[in-house]
Amino acid sequence: MKQADLSKNSEKISAMFNGIASDYDKLNRILSFGIDTLWRKKLVKDIESRIPVKEGKKQETKVLDIACGTGDLSFGLARRGFLVTGADISSGMLEIAKSKAKNAGFASNPGFILASAESLPFPDNSFDAATISFGIRNFDKREACLKEIKRVLAPGGVLSILEFAEPRNRIWRAVFNCYFLNITPVIGKMVSSDKSAYSYLPQSVRAFPKYEEFSEEISRAGFRNADYISLSGGIAVLYRAVK
Ligand SMILES: C[S@@+](CC[C@H](N)C(=O)[O-])C[C@H]1O[C@@H](n2cnc3c(N)ncnc32)[C@H](O)[C@@H]1O
Repeated sequence: MKQADLSKNSEKISAMFNGIASDYDKLNRILSFGIDTLWRKKLVKDIESRIPVKEGKKQETKVLDIACGTGDLSFGLARRGFLVTGADISSGMLEIAKSKAKNAGFASNPGFILASAESLPFPDNSFDAATISFGIRNFDKREACLKEIKRVLAPGGVLSILEFAEPRNRIWRAVFNCYFLNITPVIGKMVSSDKSAYSYLPQSVRAFPKYEEFSEEISRAGFRNADYISLSGGIAVLYRAVK
């Protein structure tokens, strides 16, 4: 298999996501058989159970959904009553998010802004929770981004990161890799106008630190109580921590 370009220069990454924005949701549903929506729901439930919120005051509970893409997680959080800001570096992905918000009748919540996790345009301590679903793997300067996220989180604020992984079980990993490394790029090529983006996807998952290794990275950025929950036999992982 041809090695995808795994460099994460922000302009390159945003250009890649601009190129696949119109096919992104469709391909997510096809490639994950719809399970990606369950993983995001799991994250929303987890945030609801951990966030320090007074009953009836969710609208005052601010969540920053970083690398929000086409907005599915932001919508899920807003539906549960949180006040959500979605941030992303791809204007193309944000355009889709905004048009979905309009079509679904969301007024100003969630709001969407063009911004990078490297430099978030918010004062210190301004959010009760920060979420990232399937985005951090693409970040350039990951450690600096985690520190920047910590800066905008209020003390006691929670971090929830959903990311792909490779299952630990040998047999399940073999099945998963067979699908993810061989079939995903082919379907991606057929459906998406960007022929290389879906080769980048499995290769970037392989290159990303997983489980304890990534939890330790979160702790090194200054978060407390870092842990993780393995989902669907370890295909996805929900990393959690507290400022
Ligand atoms: C695979 S998509 C995930 C989108 C969405 N969160 C979801 O669950 O479907 C990854 C997103 O990360 C964004 N991204 C990459 N680097 C970023 C950065 N430094 N800051 C903010 N967003 C970034 C990309 O533009 C892209 O929209």
